[in-house]
Amino acid sequence: CGIIGYAGHRPAVPVIIEGLKRMEYRGYDSAGVAFAQQNELQVIRAEGKLGELENRLNGHDVFHATTAIGHTRWATHGLPVERNAHPHCDSSGCLALVHNGIIENYQSLREMLKSKGRTFLSDTDSEVLVQLIAELRTPGTSLRQAFSQALSRVEGTYAVALIDLDEPNRIWAARKSSPLLLGVGVGENFVASDIPAFLGYTRDVVFLEDNELVELDPFAWQVFNASTLEPLEKKVNHITWDFQSAQKGGYRHFMLKEIFEQPTVITNCLAGRLDLKNRTVSLPELDALEIPEQIQIVACGTSYHAGLWGQHLLESWAQIPVRVEIASEFRYRNPIFKSEDMILAISQSGETADTLASMRLAKEHGVKVLGLCNVVGSSVAREADTTILTQAGPEISVASTKAMCSQLILLTLLALYWGRRKQTLPANVESSIITGLLDLPQILEAELPLLRSRAQELAPAYSTARSFFYLGRGMSFPLALEGALKLKEISYIHAEGYAAGEMKHGPIALIEPEFPTFALALNDALLPKTVSNLVEVQARNGKVIALCHSGFDLEVDHTWEIPNAQGPLSTFLALPALQLFAYEMAVYLGKDVDQPRNLAKSVTVE
Ligand code: G6P
Repeated sequence: CGIIGYAGHRPAVPVIIEGLKRMEYRGYDSAGVAFAQQNELQVIRAEGKLGELENRLNGHDVFHATTAIGHTRWATHGLPVERNAHPHCDSSGCLALVHNGIIENYQSLREMLKSKGRTFLSDTDSEVLVQLIAELRTPGTSLRQAFSQALSRVEGTYAVALIDLDEPNRIWAARKSSPLLLGVGVGENFVASDIPAFLGYTRDVVFLEDNELVELDPFAWQVFNASTLEPLEKKVNHITWDFQSAQKGGYRHFMLKEIFEQPTVITNCLAGRLDLKNRTVSLPELDALEIPEQIQIVACGTSYHAGLWGQHLLESWAQIPVRVEIASEFRYRNPIFKSEDMILAISQSGETADTLASMRLAKEHGVKVLGLCNVVGSSVAREADTTILTQAGPEISVASTKAMCSQLILLTLLALYWGRRKQTLPANVESSIITGLLDLPQILEAELPLLRSRAQELAPAYSTARSFFYLGRGMSFPLALEGALKLKEISYIHAEGYAAGEMKHGPIALIEPEFPTFALALNDALLPKTVSNLVEVQARNGKVIALCHSGFDLEVDHTWEIPNAQGPLSTFLALPALQLFAYEMAVYLGKDVDQPRNLAKSVTVE
């Protein structure tokens, strides 16, 4: 989602609309704006694209208010309909708030607030926050204090902006694990989740950190520690980015930005899905469903690779037999459907034609469909019997990166969840994997710049290759497929992902010095076998890059060491290495990274 607030001397609503347009790439299923006018808060919202909101605003006097907040939504909780669109107000209509992120404990807070007589008009977690602030704002408590107290009671992630009818030229805002910036102008100030939102007006930016609260009006702004309300000194940065690079968060391409978003994506995927006290996974949307006898995964492209990876964990932890098939093949076989089985359709966009057709076929045969999907309101999300949303945020680059990361996290959670329900997974394994998952964002955050530098070093050395092998075994086999797919998608170098043990049955005939091998040589039970396959490659004068852990002792042309993680969680460090290698190769070769030739982000035709 995108949020923006403006306090200044211009008519605020047009400024907000322009800002929202510049953030529309972040989400576009509903939008809204709030401002004070004639002693009343006006809240105007509309389902659908921003044009719908502009139509709604026609006929309203939008030229008097000089302070306003706005939001463009990418739904995570609740359908993308008008009543769930932001801004949300408290019951008295004095406060309006826009929110990005997820309030995890919203259900218990909502119950508490209902018991105090507050009525809720939406299904969103965000409405809970504005009602809580209103509840805590008792006589003698300032809005700043009430805001701070409310934030201390919510768990989850947020960037919020708030306006109050009593002080119509002021905005309050705060953040935790969700981006928020202050734009400093002359006689006008801004808050927004993205720089492009206000780049047309100012290039002076204050980056807000977690647990900071800001209060601003047209002439002044002050940042506070959100818990203690102690004033903080902040530096104003001058940004020289143009609009396009600002949209990409300063990254050269959306693909790079999305690769670097993966730590946040993991945090968002885990939000609300872990019971931290009992160290268990909580997926309440599945509690009412029977545990399937067998699972058939259907998907295309990168989502299919995620499915192949998930098969390992679902079989070993939950002991559910799993088949994985490319959707375009599945739909034209005569698959055997049993009512105790389940179809798991994995799709980032939720619109891939073959995946949808496979789901519909299964439904016709009375088989339950679980959708794993990134887009709320998409066809997969609507047609599946149950949907789990991956919450990776909009993915713009055609080559999928962060969406796969989110799919793998959810598949891990699914395997843990069913493993516990079936009692096939010891509690200590579940709890240690959960600890590993919680540690991942921080490890990955620190590692990403190093992965990128290594990819930059390696790219020139391999850029003349006409063909590449990617080899892996076990859980690294789907990664080999994905590494090869990424390379061919964006650098146009022919690449084949192969199961290392299958090399001998044909492909080894192709090995020569100009046909290098990218080996997934991670430290697992199958490593000795992968190593012997690599020795066979070397015996044919093939060059080898080995993505490995410390202690890897085969001498190869290039090693690429990544940090250890809890068992299968090493994948979350290996995957960005593969993505960055393909990315740096494509950049080095001067290819169009974000929009590769002949490819589409979402393949809605057969
Ligand atoms: C297209 C995209 C791929 C994606 C595949 C499946 O080919 O270019 O990046 O993996 O479709 O898309 P879905 O949205 O169903 O995951």
